[in-house]
Amino acid sequence: MEPSPLIYMDNAATSYPKPADCLNRALLRYLKLGASPGRGGYDLAQEAEEAVSEIRNRLRHFFGAAPDWPLCFAANATDALNTLIQGMTEPGDHVVSTRLEHNSVLRPLNHLRENGRITFDLARFDTDGFVDPSEIRALIQSKTRLVILNHASNVLGTVQPVAAIGRICRDAGISLVIDVSQSAGVIPVAMKDWGVSALAFTGHKSLMGPSGIGGLVIRPDIAIRPIRFGGTGIDSANPFHTKEFPYRLEAGTLNLLGILGLGESLSFLEEQEAGGFRALEMALTRQLIDGFSEIDGVTLYAARSLENHIPLLSCNVNGIAASDAAAVLDGDFNIAVRAGLHCAPLVHESLGTASGGAIRFSLGVFNQLSDIEAAVHAMSIIAGSA
Ligand SMILES: Cc1ncc(COP(=O)(O)O)c(C=O)c1O
Repeated sequence: MEPSPLIYMDNAATSYPKPADCLNRALLRYLKLGASPGRGGYDLAQEAEEAVSEIRNRLRHFFGAAPDWPLCFAANATDALNTLIQGMTEPGDHVVSTRLEHNSVLRPLNHLRENGRITFDLARFDTDGFVDPSEIRALIQSKTRLVILNHASNVLGTVQPVAAIGRICRDAGISLVIDVSQSAGVIPVAMKDWGVSALAFTGHKSLMGPSGIGGLVIRPDIAIRPIRFGGTGIDSANPFHTKEFPYRLEAGTLNLLGILGLGESLSFLEEQEAGGFRALEMALTRQLIDGFSEIDGVTLYAARSLENHIPLLSCNVNGIAASDAAAVLDGDFNIAVRAGLHCAPLVHESLGTASGGAIRFSLGVFNQLSDIEAAVHAMSIIAGSA
């Protein structure tokens, strides 16, 4: 018997498959342009630099930043978030964040606090998975330097009210940083309009790029120190790292293949958007929720409404560990999902699922109705066996 094809529902971890045309085009461009961007006066290095610069511009536009806001590449969102959190805080600062954060925010904050450098407070979220902006306002104190917030939760799928929080931060004169790892490529991001001072992104999730590329966008007036020092291709006689953007936050040779891949995937997203793929993903998520809601013994988290939501759903089957359910989904039904804490332990602590976490279904561009039907069928059998 032919093995059934993989049903991939773990797009929040990384999107799969990647559009093959994008990878092929990026590889061809890399074969042609593969000199070190910004590291030589000869034509090829200049061309590589121009290609990188063009992709910086497109990404700035994509995130709704002003054309002169620095866009600095990084390895992924974790790398960019470390740069922002460590580079924007000074000893004695206070930070406000939320219990919705991924470890890529929580761990840098915890390390800085353990070293006696900063203090921080975390806002709660309600049963629908949203942070109330007034709670952020209440946590701001005289020493608060920045608010850092997950735009879309990688466990609950809820999209936070960034514009309202941006107004609070602007009135308080503090910076707002957002983590768009899960939202970028799924919902529009308008950082300038929302009063966002900086954002961190990763290329390999819904932006559909390869892994190993991400970055940050920052308003040029925001104070930030580099946390890594080294070669930048400019200002080489300076014994210290250059202050000039984007090099201030980019030490070492850029991931040119990754950047070219991201450039191609942006074009892919533009084409897909014309075909209304976002609406389709949400319609499939609605069908998944409706299907699971009919199954006795399945608990859904923050799924009452799909307003301000990305196509992601976490749930549990009563009496079955999330990891066991995921193993059956994989082994018996060839459905790939992610079970556990999803690198966001405080979300699960708040949900009461800290011990085993939950099963997360996250949809992407390539999911179809038949995938939803297969998932609902599989979950009904798993719940029936509990
Ligand atoms: C909300 C959120 N932030 C940050 C990250 C980290 O992304 P990366 O592993 O690409 O650095 C993830 C990835 O799971 C995420 O879901």
